[in-house]
Amino acid sequence: MPKNNSFLKQAGIKYPIICGPMYPCSNPELIAAASNAGALGVIQPISLTYVHGYEFTAGIDYIKSLTDKPFGMNLLIEKGSKKYHQRMEYWLETALEMGVRFFITSLGKPDWVVEIAHKAGAYVYHDVTEAKWAQKAVDAGVDGLIAVNNRAGGHAGSQHHDKLLEQLKPFNLPIVCAGGIGDAAAYHHALNKGYQAVQMGTRFIATKECSANLSYKQAIINSKETDIVLSERITGVPVSVINTPYIRSRGLKPNALERWMLNHANLKYIMRTVLALKSLRSLKKSLLDKSGEVDFWQAGKSVETIDSIKSVEEIIKEFTS
Ligand SMILES: Cc1cc2nc3c(=O)[nH]c(=O)nc-3n(C[C@H](O)[C@H](O)[C@H](O)COP(=O)(O)O)c2cc1C
Repeated sequence: MPKNNSFLKQAGIKYPIICGPMYPCSNPELIAAASNAGALGVIQPISLTYVHGYEFTAGIDYIKSLTDKPFGMNLLIEKGSKKYHQRMEYWLETALEMGVRFFITSLGKPDWVVEIAHKAGAYVYHDVTEAKWAQKAVDAGVDGLIAVNNRAGGHAGSQHHDKLLEQLKPFNLPIVCAGGIGDAAAYHHALNKGYQAVQMGTRFIATKECSANLSYKQAIINSKETDIVLSERITGVPVSVINTPYIRSRGLKPNALERWMLNHANLKYIMRTVLALKSLRSLKKSLLDKSGEVDFWQAGKSVETIDSIKSVEEIIKEFTS
């Protein structure tokens, strides 16, 4: 592990591991289990409220009843309606009032989050896939970068983790490796290369504490990295999914109308919202449905090294001992 790990100090935790925010998989018990094991659990507020059914503050109170360790929160800050922005602002300010001090922003310009969070002494790390976005995040004053690579679950990047690290090092901020970490060897590789921490999603779905249905966890265990494809039809940007018959029937690329709208400076936000709203329901179903007959599951290429359901604590001990 790199000496003087500023990520660990900022997050206030023991091990350089983030249980990444996941719509729809971040249930309160998973978040608390990660924090209790010395990592950082992170709330995904849409998941907490829309999927898991908690009123926002009640959800945070519930997590606090399960752990006295720090946890963070994710904000998807892509430009949207005024109402959406107000909701994000409310979540940020309320989380700060309730003691959350670590935020991970994705997709938009994090300047307003940084301004509010820094006043309260909190830290903001931003998801980036290349140096161009990192520069904008640095200009906005973020405290660290989450380097999302081409093996990640969720919105994947396009670059290999080693190459991405080299591009981001000149910014002189703590860098977290997000993508492809499914076993201890990949974890140690990332830290030895100079990443200050790793952020894992897929590995934590196949855990006892994640409330995803058994068919989802089994799909992760049964899949190889060649079963993971990138679909642009879920949110308008590439999302890693297991290649189910539904995904094959729908195709991976946007249709002509969707493509035209996605390439339009103003209309792209509307198109992304339309696609995301359609997918929110499918994704919620993929987590909760017991029949196993779901459209698709989100997962990254780390499925390759995930071969059993474990407890969060077991995984963290395996990686760190
Ligand atoms: C099912 C799923 C949902 C995700 N949802 C989000 C999200 O809502 N916000 C976000 O910032 N990242 C999201 N991610 C990305 C993760 O936080 C993490 O960066 C990523 O999973 C790392 O790659 P890995 O899956 O190979 O470990 C998601 C990932 C997965 C697998």
